[in-house]
Amino acid sequence: MAEDLTIMTEASKEEKYQSLIPQIKGLIYEEQNLVANLANISAALKEAMGFFWVGFYLVDSEDELVLGPFQGPVACTRIKKGKGVCGSSWQRDKVLIVPNVDEFPGHIACASASKSEIVLPLKKHGKIIGVLDVDSDKLSDFDEVDQLYLQKILDLLP
Ligand code: SME
Repeated sequence: MAEDLTIMTEASKEEKYQSLIPQIKGLIYEEQNLVANLANISAALKEAMGFFWVGFYLVDSEDELVLGPFQGPVACTRIKKGKGVCGSSWQRDKVLIVPNVDEFPGHIACASASKSEIVLPLKKHGKIIGVLDVDSDKLSDFDEVDQLYLQKILDLLP
């Protein structure tokens, strides 16, 4: 298949996600390798949605996440369970939407330009295997629309 994405520039956030989802489905269809699929999901989200930073932290041990495939500026390599937004989402098994990262106790500032953030647990067979982290350089940039469509994208993973 062709690997070029069709990008909607003059569209609402919802329309962009709706156009992207079947394309991501095509990209990861029949590929079982997790790293390859997470890499393409990160690249597709960065390109289509214009996110400042988007990527995955993967469970590396009982109490630590390690940086996985991502797009954006270089980031912290390891995050302890319960630490920062990513470690908290993992520990609480909960989607976290943070409108202002400076107001989140223990937020880990990988990039000073990051202002708001959404983190979703990534599960396989009901078990958390990592998190999807998206950062914006604007305040209050994420809402339930992002949660809904980012979850749909994670649910596409085989
Ligand atoms: N801000 C995150 C750390 C990861 S970076 O944003 C890429 C956190 O508090 O968990």
